[in-house]
Amino acid sequence: MKIAIINGPNLNLLGKRETDIYGNQPFEKYLDELKSVFPSVEFHYYQSNVEGELINEIQKVGFTVDGIVLNPAGYTHTSVAIGDAIAAIKAPVVEVHISNVHSREKFRHLSHVSGKSAGSIFGLGLKGYELAIRWLTDQR
Ligand code: DQA
Repeated sequence: MKIAIINGPNLNLLGKRETDIYGNQPFEKYLDELKSVFPSVEFHYYQSNVEGELINEIQKVGFTVDGIVLNPAGYTHTSVAIGDAIAAIKAPVVEVHISNVHSREKFRHLSHVSGKSAGSIFGLGLKGYELAIRWLTDQR
């Protein structure tokens, strides 16, 4: 089973960035944990700070992988085009946010991604990625 994890802007700074909100762990380290929890999953990891590059990646993997775990970060709240890309592909998408976006500033309450995704997880820290993958693997 192939699962793509796609992270949006500033998530390359996990472990250094606003650690009170996002924690101390760089994503690459967490990815190693995920690989050991799901040894039979083939992971494709991609991170970009650029909206169009995220859309290119969603289109690229969206017809070949079995599922996508997507944290569009700040673009969640602004990008109609990322929402459109999710609607255009075949693979189911689970939207994940590390923080509870609904307990934060009002502009974070809007998601252009939720309505196009199979489901959304927010506020459960990095664990949200594992839960999303668990759901995707259970779909097979
Ligand atoms: C985030 C929440 C977004 O509002 C924010 O812009 C991020 C990260 C999260 O994972 O909690 O960069 O997607």
